[in-house]
Amino acid sequence: MKKAILLFFISLVVLSLAACGNNSSDDSNTVINTPGNASGIPTENNNATQPVPSDQKILIAYFSRVGNTDFDTNVDAVASASLNLQDGVLAGNTEIIADMIQDTVGGDLFLIETANKFPADYDTVLDLGQQQQKENARPELSAHVENMEDYDTVFIGFPNWWSDLPMAVYTFLEEYDYSGKTVIPFSTHGGSGFSRNEQTIKSMLTGATVLDGLAVRGEDAIDAQRDVEEWLGQLGMSN
Ligand SMILES: Cc1cc2nc3c(=O)[nH]c(=O)nc-3n(C[C@H](O)[C@H](O)[C@H](O)COP(=O)(O)O)c2cc1C
Repeated sequence: MKKAILLFFISLVVLSLAACGNNSSDDSNTVINTPGNASGIPTENNNATQPVPSDQKILIAYFSRVGNTDFDTNVDAVASASLNLQDGVLAGNTEIIADMIQDTVGGDLFLIETANKFPADYDTVLDLGQQQQKENARPELSAHVENMEDYDTVFIGFPNWWSDLPMAVYTFLEEYDYSGKTVIPFSTHGGSGFSRNEQTIKSMLTGATVLDGLAVRGEDAIDAQRDVEEWLGQLGMSN
């Protein structure tokens, strides 16, 4: 009888160990937005179990209002809460994060640039962005990555526009074949975080491995270097 009870407990232990083993998700491609803290740094590293090899060729592509807008040549006159001056030069929030990524892991920067520039007036950009979204527009791009096939890892950066990607980013995503590449999203925003944009990228780039992204409040972009380094460290990408 004692032997039977002992066997029963041993079976229980074996079964529960097996169940624990099955809990570890092997869905390594799933993008899970883990809003662990205010800066959007994931508190749980769901996807980045495989460190990105350091010999990867990296592209950091980003869309930003600055670079896509005809601003007054007097930058001091247009610098405002929504715009930053870096060494006297206007810099977009997403552009600042793109620069920080490059400082940390190297790689080539690429501005996603539309053929038609946006107007400088912020409210008009808000309306235009919304209109493009309603029309499901694909704004024409004026710059193209000639050697996309050379890149193993592609960061894709964008501001949150009406809880979506700016439509020009859809144009960019549809222009290239991302199969076999590692894609890493990053975003700046005014409070909405990523919204569903990580999932959107994942569902569009089915052949790519999409890692956990970083979302930073636009006003915090200038101070985000440490957050960027921490995030990249969690992805196994640091130099
Ligand atoms: C057209 C437009 C729509 C926006 N929609 C949102 C939004 O839905 N949620 C949000 O948090 N921020 C929104 N923002 C704010 C931007 O995401 C934020 O300012 C961002 O940091 C700008 O980045 P950039 O300087 O690189 O363009 C919007 C800004 C614009 C111009």
